Amino acid sequence: MSSTGPILLTRPRGSAAEDLAAYRECGGYSALERAIESHEPAHLIREIEASGLRGRGGAAFPMAKKLRLAAEGPSGRKFILANGGEHEPGSNKDKHLVEFYPHKVLEGILLAAYASGAQKGFLYLIEDMLAPLASAAKAIEELRADGLLGSRIRGSQFSFEIALHRGPPTYVAGEETAAIDAIEGGEGKPREKPPYPGESGIEACPTTVSNVETLAHLPFILREGAEAYRRLGTAESSGSMLFTLPDSLVNPGVYEMPFGGSYRELIEVVGGGTRSGRAVRGVLPAMSSAFIAAEHLDVPISHESLAKIGSSPGCGGIHVIEEGQDVIAEISAIAEFFKREQCGQCPPCRMVTSQLAHIMSALQAGQAPAYAAQIEKLADFGRGKGRCSLIQMALAPIRSATAVFAADMQAASTSSTEGS
Ligand SMILES: Cc1cc2nc3c(=O)[nH]c(=O)nc-3n(C[C@H](O)[C@H](O)[C@H](O)COP(=O)(O)O)c2cc1C
Repeated sequence: MSSTGPILLTRPRGSAAEDLAAYRECGGYSALERAIESHEPAHLIREIEASGLRGRGGAAFPMAKKLRLAAEGPSGRKFILANGGEHEPGSNKDKHLVEFYPHKVLEGILLAAYASGAQKGFLYLIEDMLAPLASAAKAIEELRADGLLGSRIRGSQFSFEIALHRGPPTYVAGEETAAIDAIEGGEGKPREKPPYPGESGIEACPTTVSNVETLAHLPFILREGAEAYRRLGTAESSGSMLFTLPDSLVNPGVYEMPFGGSYRELIEVVGGGTRSGRAVRGVLPAMSSAFIAAEHLDVPISHESLAKIGSSPGCGGIHVIEEGQDVIAEISAIAEFFKREQCGQCPPCRMVTSQLAHIMSALQAGQAPAYAAQIEKLADFGRGKGRCSLIQMALAPIRSATAVFAADMQAASTSSTEGS
């Protein structure tokens, strides 16, 4: 494989899931076998640090920092939690990766375990993800039969086991402490932090929680080297990222693109443009991110350049707003989603999400003259509150909409009283 080709989606679209033999043909598990034979865990962490790999679950946390925290912490039981709890509307990349490239994810888990000193990993999926669950279960069996799981792998000191876990079908169950709670037999709701999972996670042991896509980048980085990885992407946002394009485009689905491309490229070139042929008015890079106006469609996709326009790539589940679309109805649906998905544990989160939904439904009815001030008040009230970041996730699209779609919101706010 060329070092500048795709890293994750290496098979032609429509191919069957990659089995162990096919994965091995493309160099699969060679990074792991080489690491076990000849590298200290610290060498792996240095290479991952040099690659600049950051989390793909939304928060973009440097992967090497997490691994170093676990590796340099007290010795004893440690876990890897591969987070595939993807339940965000519009995002399908983790399910796609686990279903079609299960061995990339598994090798990533094993490499993270070797680097951090973990002895057990959980591949955390959601109970309704039937095809990814079946694919992952088959791949784990193939791996065990091949001797890459169990005690003293390939005669080394490294022993490791992987279990599949089926989490509950809720949005918050993908949050890291909620996933830990589900694995421990709880309802899958976020816990108070600190302690953070890196210090005290599953069974109170250090737990490295990483998105399945983040982990799936590791085999390439450790096989081809950090420099090859850095050839993709921008100076600060290295490598590639998966994006899910919506059904409203000509070519919907999951695609890989290096950082530095643009939403225009994703929508018009990769996605083939809108099915309706109508122009794009704005993009929401992910449900819990902030809207980007059409005038910014050419901004390079990187954590840094999107931050400058008040947004972020999030998990890459893209929502496209077209000319002629009812923007207020779209934003209302987003507000309803967060109201429905908040888990009920934190009163400020219950309050903010239900108020946002209320404001949006009042806007739809043309009865929200003070909507912008109310949303800002909620943002002030919600700052720093809640066990997880759901309050901020709900506010991001709605607050940004007040600027990006200011004219629509302004017009809607008093539409029922106009002319009366
Ligand atoms: C409400 C909520 C839902 C989340 N859902 C997911 C998810 O489905 N998958 C995921 O990887 N991270 C999710 N996260 C982020 C995780 O808590 C965590 O940051 C992530 O798994 C870390 O992996 P990364 O560093 O590789 O991004 C969610 C966070 C919140 C607050």
